[in-house]
Amino acid sequence: MRASLSPNGAFSRRDFMRGATAAVALRLLNGARPAAAQGDSRVDSPVATKAIPHSGEPIPVIGLGTANDFQSRPQGADRDRLKQVIDGLLAQGCKLIDTASSYGEAESVLGDLLSDQDRARVFLATKIEDGSRKGGLAEFRHSLERLRYRQADLLQLHNVQNPHQDLAPFREWKAQGLCRYVGVTTTFKGDYDAAEAVIRREKPDFFQVDYSLADRTAEKRLLPAARDAGAAVLTALPYGRSSVFAAVRGKSVPEWARDFDATTWPQFFLKFLLGHEAVTAVIPGTTNPVHLADNVSAGRGRFPDAKQRQAMIDFFAAL
Ligand SMILES: NC(=O)c1ccc[n+]([C@@H]2O[C@H](COP(=O)([O-])OP(=O)(O)OC[C@H]3O[C@@H](n4cnc5c(N)ncnc54)[C@H](OP(=O)(O)O)[C@@H]3O)[C@@H](O)[C@H]2O)c1
Repeated sequence: MRASLSPNGAFSRRDFMRGATAAVALRLLNGARPAAAQGDSRVDSPVATKAIPHSGEPIPVIGLGTANDFQSRPQGADRDRLKQVIDGLLAQGCKLIDTASSYGEAESVLGDLLSDQDRARVFLATKIEDGSRKGGLAEFRHSLERLRYRQADLLQLHNVQNPHQDLAPFREWKAQGLCRYVGVTTTFKGDYDAAEAVIRREKPDFFQVDYSLADRTAEKRLLPAARDAGAAVLTALPYGRSSVFAAVRGKSVPEWARDFDATTWPQFFLKFLLGHEAVTAVIPGTTNPVHLADNVSAGRGRFPDAKQRQAMIDFFAAL
C-alpha cells in the first residue's frame, strides 16, 4: 500500500503517451549504445525482479543512485537530462531510486522531478543521519517534505557506526506508516563490525553496502550476515565510483560473458553483483540516459552462476 501525495494508481492517456515517448527515446538511445550491445536479443525482455525477504514483495533488480549530479538544482537541459534518466528507469519497469538527506539538494530535486504518477510507481529509498527517536524523526519528516512524499518505501540509517544502534524508533515510524521498510547502510570498512552486529541483532529489512568487482570485502561477513537476517541487500558504489571502468579501459568484454548475456562492461559489472544470492538490487549512479539504458539492460537475461562469477573475479584480478 502506497501513500504518496496522489496515489490513485490510474494511468491517464497523457501518462501513457509520456511513458510511450520515454520508451521510444530509450529505443533511440539503445541505438547509440556501444557496438557490442547492439543486436541484443534481450532488449524487450523484462527486467528481473528479486523478492524482498521479509515481505516477499518483488523488486526490479536495477535501481538508480542519486549521490552525485542530483545534489544541486539543475536548470534547462541539465534538468531535462535528469528527468529523462528517471523516465527511462520507470519506462523500463524499474522503480528503485536511492537518495539521502545528506546528498545536497537531491531530495528536493527528486521532489521536483517526480510527478504524482511517478510517485505511485517509484520505490523511494532515503537515508537519515540521526538514529535517535527525536532528532531522527525531525530529520525524516524534513526529508519527506523535500521529497513531497507522505510515506517513503525504505528509510535507512546512513552509515551505521554504533554496534549497539537501536532500530526501535525506525520500526515505530514504520508502524506509524511513515515508511514501509527500514534499513541501515555502510560504506566504511572501519564500521563493518558495527554494521554486522546491528544486522544480526536488529534484523533490518534492508542493508546497503559498497560492493563491486573492485572491492569484494562485503562478501566475507556482511553479505552472509544480511542473508542470515533476511535483509534485502542493495549494493552502493557498484562501479566503485567508476574505478572498474578504468581497470578495463581499452579491453573488450570476454566472449564467455555472452553465456550470461553480458555484452558491455556495465552489464558485466552489474551482473556479477546480481549473481550473488544475497544481493537483491544494484543502484548505480548516473545522470546519462544512455548509461541508464545500458545499466537497465544488465537486469535482463541470465546472471552468472558461482563458477562464472569466479571466472569474472579471476579475469578482473588478472587485469
Ligand atoms: N553509505 C551509503 O549508503 C552510500 C555511499 C555511497 C553511495 N551510495 C549509493 O550508491 C549509489 C551509487 O554510487 P555512485 O554513483 O557514487 O558510484 P557508482 O555507481 O559506483 O559509479 C557512478 C559512476 O559510474 C558512471 N556510470 C554509471 N553508469 C555507467 C555506464 N553504464 N557506463 C559508463 N559509466 C557509467 C557514472 O557516470 P555518468 O553519470 O556519466 O553515467 C558515475 O561516474 C549512490 O548514488 C548512492 O545512492 C550509498
